[in-house]
Amino acid sequence: MKKTFLIAALLAATLATPVNAAEAPRLVQRDGHHALLVDGKPFLMLGAQAHNSSNYPKALGKVWAAAADAHANTVLMPVAWQQVEPHEGQFDFSFLDVLIKEARQQDKRLVLLWFATWKNTGGSYTPDWVKLNGKRFPSMLDRDGKPNFCFSPFGEETLKADKRVFVALMAHLKKIDGDKRTVLMVQVENEAGTYGLVRDFAPAAQAAFEQPVPAEVVARQKPKAAASGNWREVYGDYADEYFHAWAIARYIGNIAKAGRAVYDLPMYVNGALRDALEQPPKPWQGNFASGGPVWDVIDIYKAAAPSIDIIAPDIYTADSEAIKANMRLYQRPDNALWVPEIGNAEGYARWIYAALGRGALGVAPFGIDYFNYANFPLGSKRADKTMVEPFARVFGAFRPIQRQWAQWAFEGRTRGAAEGDDRKPQSLDLPGGWVAKLTYRQWQFWDLAWDSKDERPAGTEQPGGGVAIAQIGDDEFLIVGQRTRVRIEGGAGASGFMLRAEEGSFDDKGRWQMERVWNGDQVDSGLNLMAEPIMLKVKMARAR
Ligand code: DGJ
Repeated sequence: MKKTFLIAALLAATLATPVNAAEAPRLVQRDGHHALLVDGKPFLMLGAQAHNSSNYPKALGKVWAAAADAHANTVLMPVAWQQVEPHEGQFDFSFLDVLIKEARQQDKRLVLLWFATWKNTGGSYTPDWVKLNGKRFPSMLDRDGKPNFCFSPFGEETLKADKRVFVALMAHLKKIDGDKRTVLMVQVENEAGTYGLVRDFAPAAQAAFEQPVPAEVVARQKPKAAASGNWREVYGDYADEYFHAWAIARYIGNIAKAGRAVYDLPMYVNGALRDALEQPPKPWQGNFASGGPVWDVIDIYKAAAPSIDIIAPDIYTADSEAIKANMRLYQRPDNALWVPEIGNAEGYARWIYAALGRGALGVAPFGIDYFNYANFPLGSKRADKTMVEPFARVFGAFRPIQRQWAQWAFEGRTRGAAEGDDRKPQSLDLPGGWVAKLTYRQWQFWDLAWDSKDERPAGTEQPGGGVAIAQIGDDEFLIVGQRTRVRIEGGAGASGFMLRAEEGSFDDKGRWQMERVWNGDQVDSGLNLMAEPIMLKVKMARAR
């Protein structure tokens, strides 16, 4: 064969989609609601993120065991630059081969986490040949010209090298998974940004800082001072952190774009949070990772990195108001809510109801494997089965209906809540004009206010209630939840009464299987969901 033909044939072999390939995972948005389509239908990611160092073939057993116990359907797994390109230009994707093969055997989907230039802002996952060559792969410089521990987003060679290996990774992925689509999404870098320094002050960065702010940024991120000009002129006291966000987003977007050109999978970035309750947000004072995808620079990321679909929050604050605020701020018509990390302490499990009820694409507790590495104080003090159990209970409830739930969420029919730190009643406006009134720490009988002894059910010492409700028909709702008393009542758009409440489950064909009808004492004090999650189908009747 002539050389040109050979090259053309090889190229066609890598670019062609295999025959009988499953449809590629993709994100869709309609009327502000989002879905991740997998095999052509909405998919709910009940995720489990492995610990950082579990990305080796021999480690996987302890990951699959915990993911299975958690009833997760998706595992989030790091793939590190240092492991796939230990010597420059020599790629080793053997871990990926094993990972994908075993994930299929385990009936799990995957989300790959690309740990490269930035991992929790630092460069620890770059290969030695990168770490040891500061001249070619420069660090950020502070105002005095002193190197910082982060790589500079203006390091052209760093970008080139990171991009080259990422493209090789995506090409390999296409080759081994372009038919079955075990991998659903790719996270590009991990918690990018910089602690302790607001931006790069090296000459190349300084020169860019003095340039006019790119029009696409001004168009999305509202100017604070002048309508146009350089970063300081347009954004005043916020100029440094916005500039750094732009520089990092541009770098990441560049890598994502090149990767998607060879294998087009949804891509996202994850961010360490800034305080979502500080409103309006003050300029950076060393209180968060500058340049990272914090909520108030989502627009800068959207402008500078259009190949990144989602800016996602890593939730490690235990404060219920802060968690709610973050979910609200990261969920936008142009940004699907996806929680790739949430602490693995028991108290976080109830937030799965809130997130999935809000229509999130999925949630993944962090540190789900049996490496006996406890994530306290960010997460659980335990690293065994008891750490997994609270999440297993919730995922176990959603697992049989995950496809259906994702479809309802995409149609905007779902709502959700988690018990607040104040333990106070809450209410959810439901489609059709009904309202769900939620109270916590109740017994199954009567109201707490009538209970002179003020005793509470065991196990409710800490907030643990959560409920997700889907409208499944006219005036008909599916309730999934735990440790919550629910009353559905008339609201602004409806008045009436509860006609029927059935406890049951869905079979594997998605058909409702009634176990019993709740009536009498089981409904007179509201619908009391206790420690074990259950499913209720509730039919309301409009007033006669
Ligand atoms: C957030 C990071 O994204 C994770 O990789 C991990 O380091 C956790 N923090 C802490 O366990």
